[in-house]
Amino acid sequence: PIKEGQYKVRDLSLAEYGRKEIELAEVEMPGLMACRDEMGARKPLAGARVMGSLHMTIQTAVLIETLYELGADLRWCSCNIFSTQDHAAAAVVAKGTSSVFAWKGENLEEYWWCTDRALTWEDGDGPDIIVDDGGDATLLIHEGYKAEIAFEKDGVVPDPSSTDNAEYFQVLTIIKNGLKTNPKRWHKMVERLVGVSEETTTGVHRLIERARDGTLLFPAINVNDCVTKSKFDNLYGCKHSLPDGIMRATDVMLAGKTVMICGYGDVGKGSAASMKAAGARVIISEIDPICALQACMEGFQVTTLDEVVETLDIVVTTTGNKDIVMAKDMARMKNNAIVGNIGHFDNEIDMAGLEKFPGIVRQNIKPQVDRFVFPDGHGVIVLAEGRLLNLGCATGHPSFVMSCSFTNQTLAQVELWENRNTGKYENNVYVLPKVLDEKVARLHLGKLGAKLTKLTPEQAEYIGMDESKGMKPDSYRY
Ligand code: NAI
Repeated sequence: PIKEGQYKVRDLSLAEYGRKEIELAEVEMPGLMACRDEMGARKPLAGARVMGSLHMTIQTAVLIETLYELGADLRWCSCNIFSTQDHAAAAVVAKGTSSVFAWKGENLEEYWWCTDRALTWEDGDGPDIIVDDGGDATLLIHEGYKAEIAFEKDGVVPDPSSTDNAEYFQVLTIIKNGLKTNPKRWHKMVERLVGVSEETTTGVHRLIERARDGTLLFPAINVNDCVTKSKFDNLYGCKHSLPDGIMRATDVMLAGKTVMICGYGDVGKGSAASMKAAGARVIISEIDPICALQACMEGFQVTTLDEVVETLDIVVTTTGNKDIVMAKDMARMKNNAIVGNIGHFDNEIDMAGLEKFPGIVRQNIKPQVDRFVFPDGHGVIVLAEGRLLNLGCATGHPSFVMSCSFTNQTLAQVELWENRNTGKYENNVYVLPKVLDEKVARLHLGKLGAKLTKLTPEQAEYIGMDESKGMKPDSYRY
């Protein structure tokens, strides 16, 4: 059992309900269950301390318990203040498979406290490997490490009041407080760390920037760019969970409405497809001519937000970029237009500008649904305070697609741990080999009743393919 003080969840009495849903999810997650069957006896993660910063949902509970079956010693937190499913967190703690610090509706101070606690084992040391989603655990460690160098060199102590970024304020506060008592904490953590596997596009961008600048402190596996992750989770996952979030939050009729999807990458493609399927008229905004052309070829109008903002019933940001829908845009929208984001961070929508807009009044409708009323009387409905609405207003992606993502996560964790002394991975960003990607897909075909055609040796020779190296060259785009 997890000791008192080594977890913090909303309500442990939700454990039984959580367990029932975890058991249903297991049936829908064949890739993870196959990992347990294949590797459970061998315990390839034995001796590894695994820290996770990834939405504490039912699906994540199945990932956690797979890593546990493989031998890991786990601590977990969510990577978003609204995404925890409290019954999932309770079930994991009750079973004793992982320490969990997560509940739905954390404030920012609590959020970073949870991250800090998940990174700190009972003996004060840190993890061996990290499962990150969006890179917040990785960020805290890198910032702490940087601050320790400045402190040792010039005695500089970070000043939280120097930033107007509320998240960064919390990060600096944690680091500042730790410097006094444990001035080498983050250095010790980095020394121990074998690597991180990163779940999402935004976190991978952060890692690639660090690798490019030469500041990445440990190896990283980019799970997002496994084909069986981004071409499934980002696409079909959002196709499922975007309308789910909008409908649970507002119950609005989607058919006939005008919806703008900002960004037509993997998440944007899934989002636009679901809105079209629901009978909405879909408009796309893009900065990339290739993605814009793809949207045109799917029959979508492509234009700027500025051109059509007054006509929109719903706008959803999917860009992973900042400043996509600004307060001045929302001031021009129809009464009760719905504004939401499904990209990783909340800076796609100018929440700060909206809250400061002269004369604005915020009406809370229910948790994660607010109507902001402008002085002229018209309002916009903002979902999940601009944070990812599919996890804030609904339950995120369904189990089956998360099984693809999390099977890649499991393989990445085993890969990092098994190569901890081989020198295979340097402080850089890596992707898993294509054969593993194909394996993940294979593990999910049976559940859907698919039968794969067998390539004959003659055919393989005719198209010049060596099956052991994968069915496609790395340049293939799917
Ligand atoms: P992507 O890179 O495939 O797509 C983003 C698209 O937005 C690109 O095509 C880009 O050209 C476009 N874009 C960038 N700036 C823009 C602007 N100012 N206006 C219009 N378009 C712009 O990335 P992907 O995989 O689609 O991920 C997008 C975001 O969603 C990331 O933050 C990612 O971490 C997050 N994500 C969220 C999930 C969820 O469940 N809510 C699931 C998977 C990813």
